[in-house]
Amino acid sequence: MMRNPNAFLFLSECILVIISLPVLTSPLTPSNLSAAPDFPSASKRPFVLDIHQFGAKGDGLSDDTQVLGEVWKLACSSARQSTILLPAGNKYLVGPVDFAGPCRNKVTILICGTLVAPDNPDIWKGFNRRRWLYFYGIKHLTVEGGGIINGMGAQWWAQSCKRNSTKRCRPAPTAITFHKCNNLKISNLQMVNSQQMHMAFTSCFHVKATHLNVVAPDTSPNTDGIHISSSSGIEIRKSLIKTGDDCISMVGNSSRIRIRDVICGPGHGISVGSLGKSNSSDQIHDVLVEAIFLLHTQNGLRIKTWQGGSGFASKIIFKNVRMENVSHPIIVDQYYCDSSLPCLNQTRAVRVGNISFIDIRGTSASEEAVRFACSDTFSCEYIYMEDVHLVSQATEDTRSFCWNAHGSISGLIYPPPCLACNDGVIMQNVASAAIETM
Ligand SMILES: *[C@@H]1O[C@H](CO)[C@@H](O)[C@H](O)[C@H]1NC(C)=O
Ligand SMILES: *[C@@H]1O[C@H](CO)[C@@H](O)[C@H](O)[C@H]1NC(C)=O
Ligand SMILES: *[C@@H]1O[C@H](CO)[C@@H](O)[C@H](O)[C@H]1NC(C)=O
Ligand SMILES: *[C@@H]1O[C@H](CO)[C@@H](O)[C@H](O)[C@H]1NC(C)=O
Ligand SMILES: *[C@@H]1O[C@H](CO)[C@@H](O)[C@H](O)[C@H]1NC(C)=O
Ligand SMILES: *[C@@H]1O[C@H](CO)[C@@H](O)[C@H](O)[C@H]1NC(C)=O
Ligand SMILES: *[C@@H]1O[C@H](CO)[C@@H](O)[C@H](O)[C@H]1NC(C)=O
Repeated sequence: MMRNPNAFLFLSECILVIISLPVLTSPLTPSNLSAAPDFPSASKRPFVLDIHQFGAKGDGLSDDTQVLGEVWKLACSSARQSTILLPAGNKYLVGPVDFAGPCRNKVTILICGTLVAPDNPDIWKGFNRRRWLYFYGIKHLTVEGGGIINGMGAQWWAQSCKRNSTKRCRPAPTAITFHKCNNLKISNLQMVNSQQMHMAFTSCFHVKATHLNVVAPDTSPNTDGIHISSSSGIEIRKSLIKTGDDCISMVGNSSRIRIRDVICGPGHGISVGSLGKSNSSDQIHDVLVEAIFLLHTQNGLRIKTWQGGSGFASKIIFKNVRMENVSHPIIVDQYYCDSSLPCLNQTRAVRVGNISFIDIRGTSASEEAVRFACSDTFSCEYIYMEDVHLVSQATEDTRSFCWNAHGSISGLIYPPPCLACNDGVIMQNVASAAIETM
């Protein structure tokens, strides 16, 4: 099932752009560019903006934030399709920066070199501490190029309250955020050592993310690989994610998510939730997670909800998953509590149902390979398990735990299942995350 992870990465766009696109020979100034929309050539070819033509240094020491911000404004306001080029072999030191839409035409950012964040969190004084590279309100954006986005997270991690409980819990930047973006294509990028999450999609529609290589130490706090929130039509494929937190996390009000051909680990696995925190209402449905390889992760496939919430998690399929030494391979937890105060028992709950686990195999680092801890008021319903085989990494047997969990099984199931019967078998179908042609 799994191919060589390196086969996920190919570095062709930078060469292609240089061969196929006209590169300007004389330096450009903003006045050239404001004229750009009226270029008479009427060429359909994108207009290439090499950031060096605007004074970027790319030496890793000079601050290129302002140049990048200005080049974005030019590209975004151009009537022609444009490509911002960050050439290979350079290192661009860039602080927190916003890339605002809407743009007049399609924009591509070709990151061939390295984008590097300031390592000192004090640079964020006066800026939003949750953001580094923040894209919002943009349609038809492509980010690719085979380059590296380095969050230089070490000092942020050292300040984290998860590392040192005497520290105050404060936010840290998500390396790259896409907010209210439509028809996004992100591909062929390496993301390393983010301050906190590596990549987040919030309130986005139609996103295709492929060939991403995300790497941070397994001890780095909150460094989720990809986070999806209030978004729909998201496809994540052919990526390798090794971090200190969730490989991919999906939270409230998201739907039509398709994740395929992803290798995770180390990290916390693939997670739906947490949902329903502070009595909130969250919905998540139509999620397909397939052809996944989880290596030495803390959790495998997880759904977590807080007590007191409302809404539902439904029509979620996990299929064709391989695991190696995963501590909690399958876990539905409706008693999730990640706060310093104990969470009181409540009657309200986010309903969990119509969840399938099909062809899930591998080894568990703990005895309890399957756990369905469902709400007292709303039991989990229509859980479907088919061909699940999770043996112990060591020599012990594995076991399942069920609390108020209802469903049905088919094929061979190990550890022995403990679901209470639901009438009839419901095979799920999820709406596809079809990405419209861009
Ligand atoms: C841009 O404008 C400057 C002067 O305003 C001119 O010297 C230069 O040739 C122009 N470049 C292009 C590519 O048009
Ligand atoms: C935790 O932080 C406190 C002060 O914020 C510091 O004095 C202490 O050395 C830190 N502990 C560790 C283990 O880094
Ligand atoms: C989901 O939508 C509900 C109702 O519109 C809202 O209260 C909740 O905050 C949303 N959750 C997220 C994670 O955006
Ligand atoms: C959630 O609702 C319960 C019961 O209505 C209430 O006791 C609790 O204080 C609420 N919690 C929050 C964080 O609002
Ligand atoms: C399996 O995972 C456990 C806990 O995460 C770890 O201590 C152990 O070394 C791992 N075993 C192997 C063979 O990698
Ligand atoms: C909450 O419910 C669980 C299971 O029903 C029970 O074991 C626990 O004592 C309860 N906790 C509180 C604070 O009521
Ligand atoms: C599961 O699907 C059934 C049949 O479509 C539906 O009646 C039920 O509400 C769903 N459960 C949840 C938790 O969404």
